[in-house]
Amino acid sequence: MYKLNINTDEFLSKHWQQSPLVIKGAFSDFVDPISADELAGLACEEEISSRVIVTQENDWKTVQGPIDDYNQFGESHWQLLVQAVNHWFPDVAPLIQAFRFIPDWRFDDLMVSFATAGGGVGPHIDNYDVFLLQGEGSRHWKVGEKKQYQPRGGDENTALIDDFDPIIDVILEAGDMLYIPPGFPHCANTLTTALSYSFGFRAPSQQELFSGIADHLIDSNTGLKRFISTTEPTSPSHISIEQQQDMLTLLNELLQKPKHYQTVLGQLLSQNRFELDLCEPDNTYTQDDLLQSLSEGAEIHRIGGLKVISVEGDNKRIFINGEVFDSQDLESSAVNTITNAFIIDNILASQLCKSNHTCNLLISLLNKGYYYLG
Ligand code: SIN
Ligand code: CO
Repeated sequence: MYKLNINTDEFLSKHWQQSPLVIKGAFSDFVDPISADELAGLACEEEISSRVIVTQENDWKTVQGPIDDYNQFGESHWQLLVQAVNHWFPDVAPLIQAFRFIPDWRFDDLMVSFATAGGGVGPHIDNYDVFLLQGEGSRHWKVGEKKQYQPRGGDENTALIDDFDPIIDVILEAGDMLYIPPGFPHCANTLTTALSYSFGFRAPSQQELFSGIADHLIDSNTGLKRFISTTEPTSPSHISIEQQQDMLTLLNELLQKPKHYQTVLGQLLSQNRFELDLCEPDNTYTQDDLLQSLSEGAEIHRIGGLKVISVEGDNKRIFINGEVFDSQDLESSAVNTITNAFIIDNILASQLCKSNHTCNLLISLLNKGYYYLG
């Protein structure tokens, strides 16, 4: 178990989404849940997103994964980054649990990096919140003020920015952590061979929300009500202010309906940006199969990275990976267990399966590969 040594209420009110923070000793006696060799193993896989950044004189070069030959990079000045490690490496799940004081819908992924001395990705700005946890080794971090920065060297195609004046200048060692909200520039230089963990948290943009609404309306063939004028403009070339307002009212009328926005939010925010490692069974489970496995001590495990979301005010549905599951015949305690537990232990799972409705939902989740028996 990993226990985060911070007062989460104080952190949420003073820093979250507002200001960067160095948390020395965020995890006491930190033990890396993954080794450099295991990370390199993940980076060989085609379906796992990875890259190596090579630090050159005042420049950073990206080599996209999969990566299987590290000799080309030499002894120093490079960093391997592997995205969504939580989807592929279950041993990091206990570490993810420590960050669940922030809701699951916000969590994007756990990126793990292995860096040699002199390695880093260069100065940049992210549009998401990130917790940067230091594993083995040490890295020198700088964070700048939140303001407008120029692309590095005036190059519009680079994600890097010019050097900045630090407001935080710190060396992180095992168990130390840095929290950076969106918009604050940052960069690291590796001092001794290091493993680092970046927990990324995102929020939807207006564009993503609107596009989610549009998809939902098309899929459900709703939102077909048309605008009706009360008056027409005097000039034939005008869309009058009154008509503009009435069209916004038409739009608003639709946006105000929980039936629509709760569906959109549940579907949109339960989706994942990175591929999931679905665990589809060779033969579909029946109720008898599940009950038999439970009588033999099986537990029900959620695959890494799967988002299982409930929308407050809507107690009839659970949203999983963009799909809607009917939960109206489930006890609220069963819904709580399914939405909160990464692992449903044998005793709980056996209790849940006393209800046919809950058992059927679990079977359908197992058959979709969202859960597996362990
Ligand atoms: C790094 O580990 O150097 C990059 C991580 C980040 O900036 O989010
Ligand atoms: Co960053």
